[in-house]
Amino acid sequence: MAAKVPSVALNNGRLMPVFGLGTWKSKPGEVTKAVKDAIDVGYRHIDGALAYQNENEVGDAINAKISEGVVKRDDLFVVSKLWNTFHRPDLVSVGLKKTLADLRLDYLDLYLIHWPQGYKEEGELFPKDAEGKFLYSDVDYVDTWKALEECVKQGLVKSIGISNFNSQQIERILSSATIKPAVLQVECHPYLNQKKLLELCKSKGITVTAYSPLGSPDRPWAKPDDPKLLDDPKLVELSKKLNKSPAQIILRWQVQRGVIVIPKTVNKTRLIENIDIFDFELSQQDMDYINSMDCGGRACVLEWVKDHKHYPFNIEF
Ligand SMILES: NC(=O)c1ccc[n+]([C@@H]2O[C@H](COP(=O)([O-])OP(=O)(O)OC[C@H]3O[C@@H](n4cnc5c(N)ncnc54)[C@H](OP(=O)(O)O)[C@@H]3O)[C@@H](O)[C@H]2O)c1
Repeated sequence: MAAKVPSVALNNGRLMPVFGLGTWKSKPGEVTKAVKDAIDVGYRHIDGALAYQNENEVGDAINAKISEGVVKRDDLFVVSKLWNTFHRPDLVSVGLKKTLADLRLDYLDLYLIHWPQGYKEEGELFPKDAEGKFLYSDVDYVDTWKALEECVKQGLVKSIGISNFNSQQIERILSSATIKPAVLQVECHPYLNQKKLLELCKSKGITVTAYSPLGSPDRPWAKPDDPKLLDDPKLVELSKKLNKSPAQIILRWQVQRGVIVIPKTVNKTRLIENIDIFDFELSQQDMDYINSMDCGGRACVLEWVKDHKHYPFNIEF
C-alpha cells in the first residue's frame, strides 16, 4: 500500500510534502524506473535540477504516471534548480523553460537558485579554463532573485527558494525580496545538523529541506577513508535498539525536527524502506543522542570554487 506522507504549509500557504526523492547521480538509464517506482509506493515530491542532466528521464516517469492515471499533476510537488550558468537575469527564464521542456510540465511547484555563486554564462554547465579552473560570473544573486520573482508572476513556478545560501546571503535576499524565499535547501544530516541555520530560517518563516540526508555516500569525490554516516556506531546502536535501519532513524529525526528530507535511491527496496518512517517516533533522549553527533562534517564543500566572491561556506553558518 502507498505510504501517506504529511505536508507542511510554506510561507505562501502552499503545501509541500515533508518527504521526497532525490535524483542527483541517478543515471539517465535508471532514474525513470526509480521515479516511477517512487510514485507507485507513495512519493509525491521529486527533487531535481538542470545540472543533474537527467530531467528528461525524470519527465518520462512523471508523464507516464500521469498518463496511467496513477497521479494527477496537482498531486505531485516537483522541484528543480536554476543552474549557476543561468544567474544573469535575462537567462533565468531560459534555464527554467529548459527544465519545464525537459520535464514536459507547464509549471514547477518550487524553483531554487542552486548555488549563490554564478559561473560563466552561455557555454558548458561546468565552464573551466585550460588549467581546469572554474570560470565565474559576477552576477549578484539578488538580481537573479528578482528575475525569479518575475517567473512566479508569469505562472511558471508556484514557489521560489534558495539553496546553499549562508545566513548573510539569506538576510541580503530578504532585505530586497518582494516574494520571500519559501524554502532553503541545504546539506543537513547528523554530522552537519545546521542548528543555527534552522533557527534563523524558523525565525524568518523559511522552510528547510535537508539535502544529502544520508551523508551522500555516492558523492563523486568521496574518499575510501571518509567517515560513513550510515555506519556510524551511534546509529548502528540506535538501529538495533529501535529495530529500524540507520537510514530510517536519521530520516525520522529530520522530519521530527521539522526538516523536509529528499533521500536519493534508485533501488526499490530502499525506496520503500526510506519512506517507511511515519509510524514510529523517536524519544527526546534519542533525538538528543543524534543531535550530539554534529561535527561540522560537510559532504558538498566545493572547495574548487571557494575563491568565488559569493562562495557560501567561508563563514560559520
Ligand atoms: N541543492 C544542492 O546543492 C544539492 C546537493 C546535493 C544533493 N541534493 C539533492 O538531495 C538529494 C539527496 O542527496 P544525495 O543524493 O547527495 O545523497 P543521500 O540521499 O544522502 O544518499 C544517497 C546514497 O545513499 C544510498 N542509499 C539510499 N537509501 C539508502 C538506505 N536506505 N540504506 C543505505 N543506503 C542508501 C544511495 O544508494 P542507491 O541509490 O544505490 O540506493 C546513494 O548512494 C540529491 O539526490 C539531490 O536531489 C541537492
